[in-house]
Amino acid sequence: MSAGAAPVAVLVTGVGDTVGQAVIKAARASSIPCRVVGTDRARPCVGLEWVDAGYLLPHCSDGPAYLTELVRVCRKEAVRLILPGSEKELELLSRHAAEIASEAGATVAASPPTVLRIALDKLETCRFLERAGLAFPRYAPLAAAEEVERLVTEVGFPLVAKPVHGTGSRGLHRVDAWADLEPVRELGVEMVVQERLEPDDEEYSVSVFTLSTGQTVGAVSYRRDQLVAGDTFRARVARHHDVEAEALRVAASLRPLGPCNVQLRRTSRGPITFEINPRFSGGTSMRARFGYNEVEMAIRDLVLHQPVPEPAVSSGTAIRYWGEMYFDDAGQPLDGPGV
Ligand SMILES: Nc1ncnc2c1ncn2[C@@H]1O[C@H](COP(=O)(O)OP(=O)(O)O)[C@@H](O)[C@H]1O
Ligand SMILES: [Mg+2]
Repeated sequence: MSAGAAPVAVLVTGVGDTVGQAVIKAARASSIPCRVVGTDRARPCVGLEWVDAGYLLPHCSDGPAYLTELVRVCRKEAVRLILPGSEKELELLSRHAAEIASEAGATVAASPPTVLRIALDKLETCRFLERAGLAFPRYAPLAAAEEVERLVTEVGFPLVAKPVHGTGSRGLHRVDAWADLEPVRELGVEMVVQERLEPDDEEYSVSVFTLSTGQTVGAVSYRRDQLVAGDTFRARVARHHDVEAEALRVAASLRPLGPCNVQLRRTSRGPITFEINPRFSGGTSMRARFGYNEVEMAIRDLVLHQPVPEPAVSSGTAIRYWGEMYFDDAGQPLDGPGV
């Protein structure tokens, strides 16, 4: 981009939550100047105070109302790129990407629905990994009694059971014996039972960015040293060649568009993937800080149509902490972030 060119207008959705906020931080760290437009569904909202222009959108469960308003905002702000924050919005935006491009002239930085269908369902993720010849945790649908029996015969205990549509580690159960399965079945939630991957202190999060040509642009990884409520609290960013190589194979088979976060554990059988998130994630800001800026790569590829060089990633540690923002009863921000 030539010096003095107008900033690129990008729109970040779901800025009231951690993913949208991480995307704003990455956009601010981008070497390509951006104007950041943010959306959420209600005020007061922290992320709406961080952006250059903030808008409320209807809840995305009302797809037509949401899309109409989104297109209006995109036109008004000359938005070139839409960066989905929440998973629910991601699904809707992915399904309607072509329509949004033709009506608003904005590109949605999201994988196609076929990719999301695999990744947003933890049973489908296992099936995909197995079909693609990649490393996978041995698994069975909880509802298929015979398959669960076969799994126990083959790998024994301990196992884990988790909801196929779970998030944030919610509903994850450790299964050490047959007796532990009964209470999990009684919850009536669709679950997948998996071999328990060990050890606990060898869990990695790898991100791989895939260009519109289908080519991947390097990888960045961190060991998740501590998890709090499913989120990384402390991350050690460094080269982890074996886990990065496996994540690159996963992305090459899945063919997402843009950011894809692969979660793996390094076991005695090598790195094994247990979750794939083909989207921006809470770690997007941490990765950007160490040189792997997925927002900048998305702008370069999808808006400027420039070649995207493989980023030089440095190493270090990121530690998360809680912060506060204060609002008066009318929803107006008070005195900035608390310390
Ligand atoms: N097969 C497994 N073996 C051991 N631990 C697992 C397994 N699957 C998930 N976990 C643990 O549970 C956490 C949440 O599971 P995950 O599949 O990432 O779902 P989500 O993050 O969407 O809730 C992981 O970060 C990991 O620590
Ligand atoms: Mg996870």
